[in-house]
Amino acid sequence: MIDSSTNMPESTTNVIELHGIAKTFTDRAEPTVALTGVELTIAPGEFVAIIGPSGSGKSTLMNIIGLLDSPSEGQYLLDGQEVAGLSDRKLSNVRRDKIGFIFQSFNLLPRLSVRANVELPMVYARLPKSQRKARALHLLDLVGIKDRAGYRPNQISGGQTQRVAIARALANEPSLIFGR
Ligand SMILES: Nc1ncnc2c1ncn2[C@@H]1O[C@H](COP(=O)(O)OP(=O)(O)OP(=O)(O)O)[C@@H](O)[C@H]1O
Ligand SMILES: [Mg+2]
Repeated sequence: MIDSSTNMPESTTNVIELHGIAKTFTDRAEPTVALTGVELTIAPGEFVAIIGPSGSGKSTLMNIIGLLDSPSEGQYLLDGQEVAGLSDRKLSNVRRDKIGFIFQSFNLLPRLSVRANVELPMVYARLPKSQRKARALHLLDLVGIKDRAGYRPNQISGGQTQRVAIARALANEPSLIFGR
């Protein structure tokens, strides 16, 4: 007898499901159709890159997936939850709890230490201070720069900056990590 349940993946809910996503910009006299009929499914653990020619709608789609812009049409399920019609306030909570952002410019705050930068998303999530500190150090250890915890962003190398941004993106155990 085979017990396959032990080999089941942790979760079978897709991290992302997009159905019929369309985006038309209406901020000009002539509307601009940027996306139509986008279907996309991303399973847990999947690594996905969006590629295409200039102007084909990649950034538009990334903004929608990252909940920074809303689609004109279609369904967006994040961790099985419909997020297309949520209020701004609910959307910012979903962003905080489910999405880790790694920005191209990394967006570290220059006056804060490396550790405090990693702690920021946990401050927003109201994690107690001692837990924040311990988790930040653990994450910095994971990316191999625990010894730079007390440095400021202008005192570390480019690759170290990148790793701080990755540690920060992981802070709230997001369902989705998002580089843009
Ligand atoms: N606010 C806006 N108003 C009107 N049209 C827009 C707006 N933003 C983007 N567009 C148009 O939507 C289309 C998709 O833009 P988008 O930025 O998603 O392209 P992209 O695939 O990221 O391109 P690139 O590779 O050059 O960054 C483009 O043709 C662009 O001109
Ligand atoms: Mg772009």
